Amino acid sequence: MKKNLWKILLPLLLIALIAVFLSTCDAQTEPVDDTIKLGVLVYSGDDTFISNMMTSLKAIAAQYEQDTGVRINVSILDSKESQATQNDLVTRCLSLDYDVLCVNLVDRTDAARVIDQARDADVPVVFFNREPVQSDLKKWDKLYYVGADARESALLEASIIINAYRKDPGSIDMNDDGVVQYVILEGESRHQDTVIRTEVSVQTLRDSGMKLEKLDGGIANWSRNQAAALAEKYFTQYGEQIELMLCNNDDMALGVADTVERLGLDFHNIAGIDATPAGMAAVDAGKMLGTVSIGYEGQAQAIFDLAYALATNGDPAEKHTIREDRSVRVTQYVYTAETQK
Ligand code: GAL
Repeated sequence: MKKNLWKILLPLLLIALIAVFLSTCDAQTEPVDDTIKLGVLVYSGDDTFISNMMTSLKAIAAQYEQDTGVRINVSILDSKESQATQNDLVTRCLSLDYDVLCVNLVDRTDAARVIDQARDADVPVVFFNREPVQSDLKKWDKLYYVGADARESALLEASIIINAYRKDPGSIDMNDDGVVQYVILEGESRHQDTVIRTEVSVQTLRDSGMKLEKLDGGIANWSRNQAAALAEKYFTQYGEQIELMLCNNDDMALGVADTVERLGLDFHNIAGIDATPAGMAAVDAGKMLGTVSIGYEGQAQAIFDLAYALATNGDPAEKHTIREDRSVRVTQYVYTAETQK
């Protein structure tokens, strides 16, 4: 009886042992890829603010990797100011099994191809800096946006001038005629930050009771060189009539400061936004009145946290408040000689 039982049990035992052995072999030979792959597509590799943000993002990922041992691959790809190129880069990233895409749209009104491709491949997208329109962001529940509130940036930029004026009106209204003659330099015309920063900063100055006269203004596309060229034209045309140079970002403010220096002028009423290292250094050196930090480091951290959570099936809302409009907004503050005392 016992002998018969063994006759049945022994082959079964052997089969079970072989199965266990094979499954262990399988697990060992199968390549284990636990690297988190983030594809980051910037609208232009030449933009100073975005480059600063990317440096922060890489540092944050490297630090996380060092602290936790989790391997993270951050690939930063340049769309070279072409939405078609960016759409192709999305296709490439998806074919290479990236876990999450972080997209700085070239054309913020043209996110459809990016979204459709990502949704088809079930790869979440964290947009940043160039805000997609709400109807696009609401197309899928794995789409997010990280950025700074443009209205708040503009209110803070205006507050730099209002504070300086209240403290010493003659430092802004230099010809003492009761009116501040200004020139405005704007970013790209289709960018949400350009439209809102321009409108709200000027309106806030007016609301404070300041009388304003716009002498001139132009689009310098966020660029230091373009702003320097426009500033040369304005200073040649209006000379000492110009009392304030209101700029939509720091690189354009720095372009104005470059021209001031080159023409040997004594002019410092230049306001910017971004608080890039170069912008802050110009404020420290007294070349600019002030700038507004729109938190490129904070934005990089939020992009990383959201992307990491989405790549690991975590909760994107764990570390950041996600607003009704699917956005995470970072903290902003003014940077002037006063605030640095
Ligand atoms: C703005 C920033 C600019 C430029 C632009 C690009 O928020 O102030 O300097 O980087 O984004 O989209």
